[in-house]
Amino acid sequence: MSDDAMRLPDVLDEPTDDQWEQYVSIAERSFGVPLPDAPLLRSNGLVRLAADAEGVIGGAIALPFTQYFGGRPLSSAGLSLVCVNPSARGDGVARMVVDSLVDHLRERGVALVALWTPSPGIYRRWGWEVAGGASAYTVPVTSLRTMPRRHSRVVADPDPGSVFALHAELAGHWDGALHRPGWWWGWKASAAAKERHHYGVANDDRLDGYVAYSTQPLPEWGQSMVVEDLWARDGGAFSALCTFLSKHSSFTPHIRFAPGVLPSPPELSLWLPQYDWHEHPWHPWMLRIIDIESALTTRGWPVGVRANISLRMVDGPMAGTELDLMIEDGKARLGHGSGRQVMLTERGAAAWFSGCWSASRLARAGLITTGDAHTLATMDSLVATRPWLPDRF
Ligand SMILES: CC(C)(COP(=O)(O)OP(=O)(O)OC[C@H]1O[C@@H](n2cnc3c(N)ncnc32)[C@H](O)[C@@H]1OP(=O)(O)O)[C@@H](O)C(=O)NCCC(=O)NCCS
Repeated sequence: MSDDAMRLPDVLDEPTDDQWEQYVSIAERSFGVPLPDAPLLRSNGLVRLAADAEGVIGGAIALPFTQYFGGRPLSSAGLSLVCVNPSARGDGVARMVVDSLVDHLRERGVALVALWTPSPGIYRRWGWEVAGGASAYTVPVTSLRTMPRRHSRVVADPDPGSVFALHAELAGHWDGALHRPGWWWGWKASAAAKERHHYGVANDDRLDGYVAYSTQPLPEWGQSMVVEDLWARDGGAFSALCTFLSKHSSFTPHIRFAPGVLPSPPELSLWLPQYDWHEHPWHPWMLRIIDIESALTTRGWPVGVRANISLRMVDGPMAGTELDLMIEDGKARLGHGSGRQVMLTERGAAAWFSGCWSASRLARAGLITTGDAHTLATMDSLVATRPWLPDRF
């Protein structure tokens, strides 16, 4: 083999405009869609491209953001647009760019990396595990008319500051939800090529819920309506938003809630009178813990649970790390030394941390190993909520 053929690709962290365009063209081809948002992602994300003597052959982007776990914000990032030219696949190029991004993020104090994918197998070998799903829901608009009515004022184009504040307040109640960076809102609004509408519901001048949706004409008559974002402070505000949506019934037979907009199962199903709504499963999202000490000590824990668990990481870059996890008053401290009681794989740690899988189930699946049933039960009680990541990237 010639030296050129054996040479590893270069990893570029500050590509030229021309190299960037080559990457966007590989990404558009790999994902089969145009990427009009690529410049916005470039200016707000960390980019790593791989190049050989001929030019760019692949790359990936990490979008820094904050993700809530246990009610506390953790420094995280969303891995996106991982792609490699078809002729260069299977030679470890994706692994090179992903490793380079992860190393950089870890050095910058980022604890987690999340991603959406239809192919979890690709990422499992690198330590990611499924942390949650996302479904779209289609509901006959007439069903929404049966929701309990509460008097609320409907506000067109609610003040963005109030919307951001409401979102930040509500997102913190979910494990995995983002504290959206400022640019994220503009990205999502501009990404909707269709017409997008924003409405809120308010009581005593306080915004209690808002919805963003887009419409498109249907081939014969009427229009489709896709809800792309919906947050409500309580059941009353949720009901008021649904009642508002139901007022489109004369021209809109169904309302679709885009993947992830509602958690699974959706609270909506507690009110619908008929089982005539449909769930359409979409990709899962995956989580990788890239700094376990920071992740365990920064997240919030249930206030009423005291725990002392000895952990030992058994694979991945943290293999051999031993941690004594001491939890009290909703906070964790770490000691080092006797971590042999619970053997945690990297994937098992991510799946348990996310709340998607209980420790007991992960133990049955072989991703956590311990002979101590009491410790497993304690781990189950520490992470008891279901995660929800409403944002796609
Ligand atoms: C997925 C992709 C980025 C992999 O790039 P690559 O440079 O070939 O990846 P690497 O060589 O570093 O790793 C290849 C490994 O991934 C595995 N792999 C590839 N596609 C896979 C899939 N769909 N499911 C499971 N594993 C897969 C290969 O079997 C190989 O495993 P091995 O190392 O054990 O032999 C590339 O195939 C691609 O661009 N695909 C289209 C876009 C895409 O699917 N992106 C990721 C989904 S979000």
